[in-house]
Amino acid sequence: MSKRTVSVWTDNRFWMRSAGWVTGFSAVLLIWLTFDTMGQIQMGNDNDLKNGIAKRVPGPTVINYNIKYEFSEKRGHEVPLIGEKEKFFGRDDYSEEEAGKLLHIGKLASQVKNCMNCHTLLGNGAYYAPDLTKAWLDPAWDNVYLGMTGKSTKEEAIAEFLMHPSQYPTHARMMPDLKITADEAIGLVAFLKHMSSIDTNGFPRNFGKKNLVVNEKRGNQ
Ligand code: HEC
Repeated sequence: MSKRTVSVWTDNRFWMRSAGWVTGFSAVLLIWLTFDTMGQIQMGNDNDLKNGIAKRVPGPTVINYNIKYEFSEKRGHEVPLIGEKEKFFGRDDYSEEEAGKLLHIGKLASQVKNCMNCHTLLGNGAYYAPDLTKAWLDPAWDNVYLGMTGKSTKEEAIAEFLMHPSQYPTHARMMPDLKITADEAIGLVAFLKHMSSIDTNGFPRNFGKKNLVVNEKRGNQ
């Protein structure tokens, strides 16, 4: 009796082995990716900042530094650049603990006042109002709000806007007064500044360009 030749494609064992290999390979890949991602999103610390190590999520003391948003030819989108020291509410020497406390107050205030109900933060939230992920870098603070609020620094102008938004309307939609206290406002500004320093792979897209258009419109009003 001659043995019938069976094609490998119809052989059950071939498919069982293949399934085993593919599952095993995917599991290893997923575990590796999980650890890689965790390393990438781990918050940096003060030493990284002092040594010029660019972490995707810089430590809280990034509020002691100037943050710029520049186009990277290599990556094809804007990336945050952490520059020289810069005063934030009159100081550029916040310790890790002090800066962390400010961010904590800001984060709690953003949750209590539910900013996400209208705004988007790091991809989460609503699109009723401007995306806040890079709001600290909005040129409008210098171009429009400094003059409107009569304050001498950007951080004071943002805090003033947050405490009395209805006094400084610039868009068709207005932000309601949320009874934000002075301490909460400082925390929220620190929170916004820290968030803008996070490398979000250029998201939200066209942030700079969009704001230029908004500013032109504001200028014509
Ligand atoms: C009920 C909706 C609503 C809520 C809640 C809200 N906002 Fe707003 N916000 C707006 C609108 C609308 C604007 C645009 C108003 C303008 O620029 O005149 C705005 C503008 C802003 C801006 C200016 C953005 C820019 O780049 O010009 C900041 C910063 C801001 N909001 C922060 C916050 C924070 C922080 C919270 C939470 C504590 C918050 N908002 C909660 C509606 C809201």
